[in-house]
Amino acid sequence: MPGNIVLIGFMGSGKTTVGRLLARELRWSFLDTDTMVEERLGLPVKEIFAREGEDFFREVEKEAIARVVTARRAVIATGGGAVLSGVNVQLLREGNKVVWLQVRPETALKRAGLDDNRPLLQGREPRDIAALLRRREPYYAFADIYIDTDGKEAAAVAREIKEALKAWLESLT
Ligand code: S3P
Repeated sequence: MPGNIVLIGFMGSGKTTVGRLLARELRWSFLDTDTMVEERLGLPVKEIFAREGEDFFREVEKEAIARVVTARRAVIATGGGAVLSGVNVQLLREGNKVVWLQVRPETALKRAGLDDNRPLLQGREPRDIAALLRRREPYYAFADIYIDTDGKEAAAVAREIKEALKAWLESLT
């Protein structure tokens, strides 16, 4: 069994920050699909969107997901839109635990809105972000566990994940 922990959720939910921490605590490796896409193309996400468009980004993201699920005992942070693809969802679920990091739109905006490498947030009003998050929620709902991240430090979120997955982690050999 691959036995990875896969973090899904909206931009600004803390997938990368929490994932890195969790991986360090578990002494597992940490993989981030956005970083894999950026390394593969040698460009930041915002440049990929600007030059090639979102559809192209999604294709390269699919390749990154297909590669990342060959890992074993890794914490995997996915881009917020990776779960829009049914194929990606199927790959991510197989033999792994999927954790949805939940976030309120105001918090997402506070954490991620100033980052200019997130093209889908650029120039958006708070109500647009809230609408996008609402449209995304059904795609995150397949997760095995849901963790509310609002008002919590990354370390507390990482602890909650470990606690929620305790039995599963102990069952891994
Ligand atoms: C996206 C989220 C981003 C990145 C891209 C698209 C999305 O990842 O993949 O900008 O569609 O939600 P993060 O969730 O890590 O910001």
